[in-house]
Amino acid sequence: MHCLKKVTDDLTWVGANDRRLAMFEGVYSVPRGVSYNSYLLTDDKTVLFDTVDKAVRQRFLENVAEGLGGRELDYLVVQHVEPDHSAVILEMAQKYPGMKIVGNQKILEFLNQFNDFDFGSRFLLVCEGDALETGKHTLHFVMAPMVHWPDVMVTYDSADKILFSADGFGCFGALNGALFADEVDFARDYMDEARRYYANIVGKYGGQVTALLEKASALDIRMICPLHGFVWRRNLKDIISKYLRWSSYEPEERGVMVAYASIYGNTENAAEILSSRLREMGIKTEMYDVSVTPTSEIVSAAFKWSHLVFASTTYNAGIFISMEDLINDLCAHSIQNRAAAVIENGSWAAASGGLIRAKLEKCKNMDIMDCTVSIKSAVKAKNRADIIALADAIAAGFPKPKTGEEKGVDPAAMRAIPYGLFLLTAREDGKDSGCIINTAAQVSSSPLCLSVTVSKANHTHGMIMKTGEFNVSVLTESVGFELIKQFGFQSGKNTDKFADCGYDARAANGIRYLPCHVNSVISGKLTGSRDAGTHTVFFADVTQAFSISDEPSVTYKYYFDHIKPEPKPAAGGKSGYVCKICGYVHEGDTLPDDFVCPLCKHGAADFAKL
Ligand code: FEO
Repeated sequence: MHCLKKVTDDLTWVGANDRRLAMFEGVYSVPRGVSYNSYLLTDDKTVLFDTVDKAVRQRFLENVAEGLGGRELDYLVVQHVEPDHSAVILEMAQKYPGMKIVGNQKILEFLNQFNDFDFGSRFLLVCEGDALETGKHTLHFVMAPMVHWPDVMVTYDSADKILFSADGFGCFGALNGALFADEVDFARDYMDEARRYYANIVGKYGGQVTALLEKASALDIRMICPLHGFVWRRNLKDIISKYLRWSSYEPEERGVMVAYASIYGNTENAAEILSSRLREMGIKTEMYDVSVTPTSEIVSAAFKWSHLVFASTTYNAGIFISMEDLINDLCAHSIQNRAAAVIENGSWAAASGGLIRAKLEKCKNMDIMDCTVSIKSAVKAKNRADIIALADAIAAGFPKPKTGEEKGVDPAAMRAIPYGLFLLTAREDGKDSGCIINTAAQVSSSPLCLSVTVSKANHTHGMIMKTGEFNVSVLTESVGFELIKQFGFQSGKNTDKFADCGYDARAANGIRYLPCHVNSVISGKLTGSRDAGTHTVFFADVTQAFSISDEPSVTYKYYFDHIKPEPKPAAGGKSGYVCKICGYVHEGDTLPDDFVCPLCKHGAADFAKL
């Protein structure tokens, strides 16, 4: 019986999960299973995006048949011929004789290699930039070679702004009834598996992933549909920002991964002493016993941490077997841009340290520390001192914590105060306007009094000064960057921010409020104000307050972490400064102290050098 899920009105997930697979690609353990995603678009034409692994063939065929509801299948877009996505293509070609197979030249070549079938007359060859109209939708094909195989291409649906991303943005783990990343706690429960998937499947091809991300950055993408794992329809920045980092081989976190190979516990002891000392100095550590940890987990950790320490006993005059496998795997996955250190052990002829160093030296931009610790059998006082010296040398590369007396005014401390995001609206002489603010608070309960803090540069500020009335719409986590731009990055002086908004919701005071992406609305009547330099703090009696939804309020931190897109580098590699609030880029080598962002009106302190 079918088990399919709606993605949008006319797009349906027709894939399936496999929780019995022990080793994905025969090498990566998948204890939480894996999903094979396939998507069916039902437009004037019907289009299937990829098929699935043979293990879930039956469910997939039932899903496609149900999704088609008796219609013919017009197109099968093949984005990648690896058999976990192509195992059912031949059967589909036979079952749906009118179906055209859409793909690039390499896809045709690989289809012919894997199958004995004449695809020629059924094949619709596409190249970079080609488009296929299916009715309401237009599909644009973008080549993405080596994201994971040379045949890979992705597809952009410009009608619904969906990127079908092939292996890109995939994740290990079955979907467990959910489909969208926002249905689960992805950061807590799945990000490690997304990193393990990335590092091991496409980690070697950072340059090619970067090239795809650059092409994707030119597209307005509202949803990402990968071939494994969850569909992204909200907070796309969460996964795109990770891909930008992983593909550039920049570490995600400053800290030390300690991987050790120990036969009788003595090399492990050295690794423990090192990790304990680092922790005492406030440095994060993660430890892995290579004998019992799948290599894919350690490769993934190496993509995460800034410093890597390898502690290995000597075995057969070489590196201990599982440690050698790990080092070879890391080199094969192009690990680079890391600081690394080595601890060796050998009861009569220690050799593992030099051999590990020699392998790591072949990786790009590896800063291999000179102070290799060499142990004979067990850690002795001299070895312990060497390990402490190694910890100190590693710690020297980390920022030294300041004492309480040495600390000045750190803007990060101010940002730690929780703020929200609100749409503040006013009406003057029949004209509506509004702006985004981050500070609104209940001041007292009797009388029920509210304060809002508004930049004097905002047109809404002047309107409230004159009329003494306003509404606060409390924005929720579903708010998109477009709405923040609409109300936050342009002036109401010369723009009707509500033009073409399609709604006219007003509170009892006649002032507009936002009816969506909002959980409550509060109306205020001014009782006083306090000049605060660049801003005014308005105090108001609450005249009306009502709830709209139970969605969580968006915080300023949530906006930065999940909603605001990553700044793009200045075109042509020019130097400049980017506004951390709205993304405005000021080109030039210097930024005046009194610079004010022309879009969001934040000052120079909120700019970062590109
Ligand atoms: Fe999921 Fe490269 O196949």
